[in-house]
Amino acid sequence: MNGWTEGYVGGIDYIRAFYRDWSPALLSFALTLRGWRPPEALRSGAFTMAELGCGHGVTTAVLAGANPQARFEAMDFNPSHIAGARRLAGDGGLANADFLEESFADHARRNGPELDVAALHGVWSWVSAENRAILVDLLRRRLRPGGVAFVSYNALPGTLAHMPLRRILVEQTAAGSGPLPARIEQAVDFASRLAALGGGWFAGADGVPERIESLRHKSPNYIAHEYLNGDWTAFYHADVARELAAAKLDFAGAAVPMEQLDDLTLSPAAQALAAEAQDPAVAETLRDVLTNRSFRRDLFVKGGERLTGAERSALLRATRFALLVPPDDLPESASTPVGRLPFPRALHAPLGEALSGGPHSLGALLAKPALAAQGEDAVVRALVLLTSLGFAAPIPGEDGMEDRQAQADRFNGAVLERHRSGDTPGHLASPLLGSGVAVSRIEGLFLLAARRGEDAAALAWRHLSADGIALGRDGRRFDGAEENLAELASRHRAFAFRRQPLLAGLGVR
Ligand SMILES: C[S@@+](CC[C@H](N)C(=O)[O-])C[C@H]1O[C@@H](n2cnc3c(N)ncnc32)[C@H](O)[C@@H]1O
Repeated sequence: MNGWTEGYVGGIDYIRAFYRDWSPALLSFALTLRGWRPPEALRSGAFTMAELGCGHGVTTAVLAGANPQARFEAMDFNPSHIAGARRLAGDGGLANADFLEESFADHARRNGPELDVAALHGVWSWVSAENRAILVDLLRRRLRPGGVAFVSYNALPGTLAHMPLRRILVEQTAAGSGPLPARIEQAVDFASRLAALGGGWFAGADGVPERIESLRHKSPNYIAHEYLNGDWTAFYHADVARELAAAKLDFAGAAVPMEQLDDLTLSPAAQALAAEAQDPAVAETLRDVLTNRSFRRDLFVKGGERLTGAERSALLRATRFALLVPPDDLPESASTPVGRLPFPRALHAPLGEALSGGPHSLGALLAKPALAAQGEDAVVRALVLLTSLGFAAPIPGEDGMEDRQAQADRFNGAVLERHRSGDTPGHLASPLLGSGVAVSRIEGLFLLAARRGEDAAALAWRHLSADGIALGRDGRRFDGAEENLAELASRHRAFAFRRQPLLAGLGVR
């Protein structure tokens, strides 16, 4: 069955998810930090972007909703993924995104426009060597000089610890009977019973029982696409870099800005040892060995141009940042790869206060005496951490904001309608960010009520109760309309006071 899947798992769709990692302003920021000139089109907003193996196309659709001047193409060989993506694009009035039902081989035969960005998320480790070769050829032909590729993959050596787990899941799922989701659940249960015995591999492999436990809370759709493909290859970074070199691509740096900060994960002695490697791909691989990395999100550039120190500094100073949480939700510390990292008050309080007044460029932030006193490097580092942890985001320039707002309003209107039934992509388009913002079903229903001028609690309760959903608090489930309406009214007051103004500031309404 399913001859078209080429060994990729069939009969079960992937999860619907939005990933901000390759949103244009974040890409520009990550490249600039590492001293690469970002494609000019990313800054003007008139870029072309492809997502290869796009799943349900949620990321592409939301980015298209927030970037009307850009052109998007997204492809996947799974027809149900593309059918859903096209329905979302059609409902949301996206004239700037094409969703193509094609295999990588089909797509490689097509001639398309030069690309500023190609994103391959959840693809590289999960397809065959033949398909990777097709993708390399596609990148070589289609990426514009100066263009950027986002590539994520399971990395070595960290993934070594999970290889027996994958084998157990594959064998148990194959041996089971009945529908695939039930077999996956039984396979995870079996792995968890094995782990409970302890000893053997479980005694030596770091974090494996925890990973098995976490799979109990993941959907069978995620588990199938992560573990059950015929091809499942973990890579040393050096091997990925060498394969992509055939597409004239050079490693540009980690896509997540925080992951560019060596001192977060490596001691000075470890940094010095990794730096002894002449080949940057080997140095990066040594860093992975020293930190036991199991997943990477990398940026590669095709003929990328190096910025001078002055150009880098000018581009960073021109970059604008917005807050993604109310300023008093900024934490005093955050969990990072090296444990909890304190956010010094003297730096983070004035930073939060400035950004709470609206987006600011780094240059404008540094004009504030309290931040100038901290020094540029410290402020940049704070912004790197805040953006990587999802508390703030770099944002595009102000040009075209009216069009971005109009397109996002139209797209978000269609998505909000879907909140009535719960068939939602989970994110709305933010014209300010040029990216997506997570919105829960209840928040979406509150926004829908605001658009329609209806009572928020009543509208939300009408749709939640139709799906048999009741709210709860402190472990108690509310019975009946009265209690649920009172709870929704209280949640709406909190939403209207804190979250709605923040969303409005991001252009999400
Ligand atoms: C793990 S999913 C990632 C989806 C999406 N990029 C995301 O991050 O949400 C990988 C996707 O690649 C698609 N895929 C796998 N092999 C393919 C091939 N040979 N041609 C086209 N699409 C393929 C699958 O259908 C699946 O939707």
